[in-house]
Amino acid sequence: MQPAMSTALPVLRPDLVGPQAPPAPDHARQAGHLLDSHGRRIQDVRLSLTDRCNFRCVYCMEPGDRFLPKMELLDLNEYIRLVDVLRALGIRTIRLTGGEPTLYPQLDQLIDAIGRRDFDDLAMTTNGSLLDLDQLESWRRNGLRRLTFSLDTLREKRMASITRSRTSVADVIHAINLAKVAGYPRPKVNAVIIRGINDDEVADFAQFARDEDLDVRFIEFMPLDSNRAWNRSHVVDADEMIAAIQQRFPLQPETEITPHSTSMNWTFADGAPGRIGMIAPVSRPFCGACNRLRITAEGRVRPCLFSHDEWDIRTLLRNNSSDADVAAAIVDMAWTKQAGHGIGKADFSQPARTMSAIGG
Ligand code: 5AD
Ligand code: SF4
Repeated sequence: MQPAMSTALPVLRPDLVGPQAPPAPDHARQAGHLLDSHGRRIQDVRLSLTDRCNFRCVYCMEPGDRFLPKMELLDLNEYIRLVDVLRALGIRTIRLTGGEPTLYPQLDQLIDAIGRRDFDDLAMTTNGSLLDLDQLESWRRNGLRRLTFSLDTLREKRMASITRSRTSVADVIHAINLAKVAGYPRPKVNAVIIRGINDDEVADFAQFARDEDLDVRFIEFMPLDSNRAWNRSHVVDADEMIAAIQQRFPLQPETEITPHSTSMNWTFADGAPGRIGMIAPVSRPFCGACNRLRITAEGRVRPCLFSHDEWDIRTLLRNNSSDADVAAAIVDMAWTKQAGHGIGKADFSQPARTMSAIGG
């Protein structure tokens, strides 16, 4: 089911919409394409399904953070409609995120609906605290292809202080193993490394990747924490992490280049299983190759994690606008994507939203 679209998208009727992006030039309005003003083609969407989370990771949310009222959040039909419009605009891959996406009550139905459409990939990032085998198997049958787990420590005592939750390291490792049993390909594990908190565990995580045959991706701490405690001295650069791993396990860079990949990848020189990835937005920004758009749980389109502008698509979904109107608005929104995040530049300022409200 794809929305009917003529070859040229109509220009939006201003009386139908709330806050909206300025009109993109005519040449951006080609059916089947989503372009930005820096020549990048957008083909990947991160769909945040909820701003809620049962964790309060120190680098993300504070215990007192408030969540949006339920009526503010997109419902299942709104997500499905958006997915159809995005598909018609050339989006090829979707990642479901949150908050914690497994808290979204209609996740089963949404996975099923997206799985029936012809996307190249459907992935989900989860904290791994609420998964069971039946669900994992049914999601896989219905089209969920890949899972990424967030896990920032292998030490039980630290887990409680980082996530401020009761979920243990063992619980998350159990969930990762269930994902393997359910037949997902090698799961990814995201570890956000912060100086003074878990920077002494980098080589242990490499050991973990080998022992469990996992794709462990180390993420540089980004200024997206609700506490606004980020500062450059907390960031452990990818080069430093690689050096720490090489001391224990020599690594071999992967030669295969995936054009829009956010990570630089290595395998173990001794041929052991597992893989290492570095996501280094701070020390080695990859914005030039970015092909993403983010949509928040209340229907705001964020062209960049660090955007200060975000555009309201929910109003259009709720006011009888046509699919062509929704598509035209998304074309305008994508066109505003900024060239890069600018972390480290003198005029950088942290966006008001945290990662949990954006959808990593
Ligand atoms: N810096 C880096 N990564 C972050 N994440 C959440 N907040 C931050 C931050 N401030 C990560 C989570 C998750 C992914 C979606 O984003 O750990 O794995
Ligand atoms: Fe929840 Fe993920 Fe934020 Fe942790 S990082 S509080 S798991 S949304």
